[in-house]
Amino acid sequence: MSETLNTPKKTKVLFVCLGNICRSPAAEGLFIDLLERKKLSDHFEVDSAGTGDWHIGELPDPRMRDHCMKRGLKLTSKARQFDPEKDFEDFDYILAMDKKNLEDLKALDSEEAFQEKTVLMCQYKQRTKHKEVPDPYFGGPEGFDLVLDILEDSTEGFLNKLNHKLNLF
Ligand code: 4NP
Repeated sequence: MSETLNTPKKTKVLFVCLGNICRSPAAEGLFIDLLERKKLSDHFEVDSAGTGDWHIGELPDPRMRDHCMKRGLKLTSKARQFDPEKDFEDFDYILAMDKKNLEDLKALDSEEAFQEKTVLMCQYKQRTKHKEVPDPYFGGPEGFDLVLDILEDSTEGFLNKLNHKLNLF
């Protein structure tokens, strides 16, 4: 039997925000860290992207990197723009940080073929009351902590939901 038939298909997850320098790279980093702690990294491919193009190639915002470092998480991704030609097809889950990100993504899905896999990150929240991950870019330091609290809760909830479906742990 060929190797491809033996290897279970990886679940591909893409986190999306506006600039891909604050919220989605943090979601990517937190989810990768969670998978490593649960020894599930081999089952997944994880990436992030922005709907905008202003920060392509940049590391995450230094404020977000600092806040993540305080929680023991080092962010190293480089910003890229969401590519509707590839990403809709390529990923199993496309998780938008806020309603505007979701609206922008859905508008890029011109034939409405990928609406079901394109959802809000907070759909998977467990404890937080927040329904969106608010943009921290123009605000103070407390906004970055709030983003991380919401993302820790929602990425854990997302993995728990996937576990029900895939029996991972
Ligand atoms: P993000 O935050 O979408 O969480 O990466 C932003 C980053 C940059 C800008 C807006 C939001 N910007 O306007 O440049």
